[in-house]
Amino acid sequence: MNKKTLLVTGGAGFIGSNFVLAACKRGHARIVNFDLLTYAGNLKNLDSLSGHSDYVFVQGDIADRDLVGSVLARYKPDGVVNFAAESHVDRSIAGPEAFIRTNVVGTFNLLEAVRSYWLDLTTAERGAFRFLHVSTDEVYGSLGPDDPAFTETTPYAPNSPYSASKAASDHLVRAYHHTYGIPCLTTNCSNNYGPMQFPEKLIPLMILNALEGKPLPIYGDGRNVRDWLYVEDHCEAIRRVLEHGRGGEIYNVGGRCEKTNLEVVHSICNLLDEMRPQSPFKPHTSLITFVKDRPGHDWRYAIDCSKIERELGWSPRETFDSGLRKTIDWYLQQADWVQSIRTGAYRAWIRSHYGAS
Ligand code: NAD
Ligand code: TYD
Repeated sequence: MNKKTLLVTGGAGFIGSNFVLAACKRGHARIVNFDLLTYAGNLKNLDSLSGHSDYVFVQGDIADRDLVGSVLARYKPDGVVNFAAESHVDRSIAGPEAFIRTNVVGTFNLLEAVRSYWLDLTTAERGAFRFLHVSTDEVYGSLGPDDPAFTETTPYAPNSPYSASKAASDHLVRAYHHTYGIPCLTTNCSNNYGPMQFPEKLIPLMILNALEGKPLPIYGDGRNVRDWLYVEDHCEAIRRVLEHGRGGEIYNVGGRCEKTNLEVVHSICNLLDEMRPQSPFKPHTSLITFVKDRPGHDWRYAIDCSKIERELGWSPRETFDSGLRKTIDWYLQQADWVQSIRTGAYRAWIRSHYGAS
């Protein structure tokens, strides 16, 4: 089998690094990881690939069209997987500009660089090329308790600067397929959790706070609902879409696992009680603290993933219990990693957002 080369943007972040590790382990692709290394990018995630013959790292900004163009010309990838983004809703509320810069302008420049590269390919290469854009269910807006789950045809109704910037990028990707014929694919996925997630997102924040006996800050009444998917299941969905998806199509990816935030935090606390029986902070649920709600907080997300199940034979393998156990176990084993991301930028965010260190 001919080994493909993939340009992976944002491959040092949470989902991107899980994807790169899985791809290198399978050995079916050469990976060029292109990442700006913002506060969310961490090369430690990829330490195990040092010296790997099918892996290259390039530090750069997707908004730097010339640099992206030179990387495309040098490595001649058969496809691009775009994970690079500003990804945290709360940060987008505190400072939306970086989200417009990377998610909108960055995606536009990346698409422009890809367009020039793609036009120079042979007809056969153009047909085989794939641009896979990794997006979110948040572009569809918020659901009420009895609304049906989001499908690929649900109208976009983004509510946060983050989801609005992702919606804009999705529209650009769609337009580049429709107008120029570039074989683009978009995946819209629900909330991910798993190893190597930056601890500003709900699940790793709660795990690390609970381990240290710090308050577990739940926004509002904790009844907001998210659909949770273990990160490796998401990576496998992306691989299938890349290999077997039809150009121009959208695939919704989800865990069929709707939970209130309060349920998620209770599950984390109960598992920690079991996995850390000597902890002085048992029962960890005693650390739960209700705090001021997020402005414009979307009430519920739910994904109908029947299209990818039906067309590509994908379905999530982990249950919430098995995935959460693996996740907690990973954070328990990775004291060095946790220490390494607790840089000035992380501390500054925690202080400014929660008023604590
Ligand atoms: P992340 O914040 O952990 O990682 C983002 C990565 O992109 C980082 O390595 C960062 O350094 C890099 N990056 C940021 N700006 C860049 C730029 N201008 N140029 C190059 N690299 C840049 O994010 P994540 O959670 O891994 O999410 C990856 C993608 O998946 C995002 O597009 C996000 O919208 C989408 N997504 C995430 C979730 C989730 O639950 N985390 C769910 C659905 C979709
Ligand atoms: P988050 O991980 O930020 O993902 P998203 O907002 O993209 O869904 O948050 C998940 C849910 O958890 C969301 O409803 C907000 C809530 N939340 C809290 O209650 N407390 C927190 O400290 C954080 C970070 C999130």
